[in-house]
Amino acid sequence: MKGRKNGVERLVRPHLRNVETYAAVDPPEELARRAGIPEDKIIKLNGNENPHPPLDSVRKAVAQTAINIYPDPLQRKVRQALAGYTGVDADHIIAGAGSDELIDLLFRLFIEPGDTILDFDPTFAMYAFCARVADGKLKLVPRNETFDLDVEAAKKAIDPRTKIIFLSSPNNPTGNMATEEQVRALLETGLVVVVDEAYFEFCKQTAAHLVPEYDNLVVLRSMSKWAGLAGLRVGYGMMSPTLAKHIVDIKSPYNLNVAAEAGLLASIQEAPALLADVDKIVRERERMTKLLKTLPGVKPWPSAGNFVLVQFPPGKAQTVFHGLAQQGIFVRKFGSDRLRDCFRISVGTPAQTDALIAAMRELV
Ligand SMILES: Cc1ncc(COP(=O)(O)O)c(C=O)c1O
Repeated sequence: MKGRKNGVERLVRPHLRNVETYAAVDPPEELARRAGIPEDKIIKLNGNENPHPPLDSVRKAVAQTAINIYPDPLQRKVRQALAGYTGVDADHIIAGAGSDELIDLLFRLFIEPGDTILDFDPTFAMYAFCARVADGKLKLVPRNETFDLDVEAAKKAIDPRTKIIFLSSPNNPTGNMATEEQVRALLETGLVVVVDEAYFEFCKQTAAHLVPEYDNLVVLRSMSKWAGLAGLRVGYGMMSPTLAKHIVDIKSPYNLNVAAEAGLLASIQEAPALLADVDKIVRERERMTKLLKTLPGVKPWPSAGNFVLVQFPPGKAQTVFHGLAQQGIFVRKFGSDRLRDCFRISVGTPAQTDALIAAMRELV
């Protein structure tokens, strides 16, 4: 049958017709296909995922969910469990399909076309992506030579339409953290300050205790990294009850699916075991960093997350990146000028680290 051409493209909102999409990571089977090797042979270190297999108890809880019934739109059990885990009251908390969904919801809540958001560059690309989708304006405040924040430059960059300042701490992909003093200074601007703590469990430094103090603070967390639930899509935000209520009012009613809900509840119960695995990842990160330092010309940046940004002599990063990919070892490369000579390696198992280091030693 011949399709009817009615020029539907003209009805797409103009700013979205050629929008630059988010460069997401491909699934293992696609990476394996591209490298021409079996899926169980690839080493996937490009998504900051957790290398430990799920706990049986979590797997069982997910498998036993009543998938024929809608989830709780008000996420009562989830918010209560997260209150116990975080020490922040349940009415301050709201969960989403990954912290990605909460970032998107914050844009829906605050950003009208033409409004500005501030980003400390380089950082997690989701904030800029959501700004493009929302037809917002993105102002990049460059991080200094050690990737630290320049709060004064951020303040100067604020214009009458600035609504949100995004701050990833630890910062993906540079691995460094913001100080409480810096967070407070940004909060004093009165704008919405989103402190994205997707990697909190790997550093244990948080701004969560400031949530009751500042109604313009949003702290985001993820279950993808420490709890290993990346595939289930679960994250949450902590904020004033007023903001949490606004998010509840605009989110899609059943945004947190029953499997994600069950995975989160079981993971909170199993927190001690999962946090013991987090400690292993932190130790492995330090071992990998030491090994990377033994490679000629390779500079690993210190990291408080489950990943390490690695810098190479000019022109070298791309070659090593491709060489690794050909051997089925996948790391994350970024398109920006500032990170041209870098890539990010997620911390995997000791065996994966050893294979990575051996391959890199050949390539450099
Ligand atoms: C800084 C940061 N925030 C948020 C996310 C998204 O996490 P989630 O899987 O909860 O959507 C990531 C994922 O890599 C991240 O690095």
